[in-house]
Amino acid sequence: MNMTPEIICEKPRSEIYLSDCLEVMKTIPDKSIDLVLTDPPYGINFVSPWTKRKEKLQNDKLDDWQEMIIPMLQEFKRILTDTGCCCCCCGGGGGKTPVTAIFTIEAIKHFNLIQTLVWKKFIGLGWRYRPSYENMVVLSKDPKDYNFYDTTKKCSNVIEGINQDIPQYRGGEAGFHDEHPTQKPIALMKKLIEIHSIKDHLILDPFMGSGTTGVACKELGRNFIGIEIEPKYYEIAKRRIQNTTTDMFCMEGVVK
Ligand SMILES: C[S@@+](CC[C@H](N)C(=O)[O-])C[C@H]1O[C@@H](n2cnc3c(N)ncnc32)[C@H](O)[C@@H]1O
Repeated sequence: MNMTPEIICEKPRSEIYLSDCLEVMKTIPDKSIDLVLTDPPYGINFVSPWTKRKEKLQNDKLDDWQEMIIPMLQEFKRILTDTGCCCCCCGGGGGKTPVTAIFTIEAIKHFNLIQTLVWKKFIGLGWRYRPSYENMVVLSKDPKDYNFYDTTKKCSNVIEGINQDIPQYRGGEAGFHDEHPTQKPIALMKKLIEIHSIKDHLILDPFMGSGTTGVACKELGRNFIGIEIEPKYYEIAKRRIQNTTTDMFCMEGVVK
């Protein structure tokens, strides 16, 4: 278990751990994280029909996942600031086990449920109902007082490619050539970062995979802590974050 982070950028700060997030989170001070933005395993033993990556994820078996989500939510609650939020991907509809429902029922024991978002990602494979979306649960400690910085007044709980500039999963920025079997679009993570944080906030992704949240944070000038248990994904995340530049308007001294 490696409990020492690699600092891969100083400003905005990006520090990443190759480790088990349940162990690393214990070392994070109380009320120090402004946003948890993450995409944990969904408990479905997933193998992607879309990417070349056929490997399975750690802690993605239903039993392992169920064991993990309670301590995970407890840690999120401890380390978030009083107005901090948690945006957590948690699967689509269908399948043998209603994992979105299971996750939400557990989450509301610890948090206020702000919204369940739908990310409309593509028209899926299959017969009859084709899976076309994923849910993201958005949580806060306080039901009224939480970080929310959208100024458009058009912030929908459906996030979709065509209207909101998030690439469709297949054939877009995330797709067949992804380096991780469940890689998310950078634009999806950027959208949530812009809604729930401001420059210089500290964002945690404890299941960072190929580092998409870290890339989005660096582009937007947010400080980032990322944790990944699998060495090969950790190395991909490290390279992707290192190769990212901060948007000019998000750099130090430039007011957005
Ligand atoms: C759904 S994927 C995240 C993909 C990511 N959003 C991306 O764009 O690449 C979940 C990741 O969590 C990692 N993981 C599973 N259990 C973990 C744990 N206890 N601590 C840290 N990482 C873990 C898996 O190896 C996997 O890469």
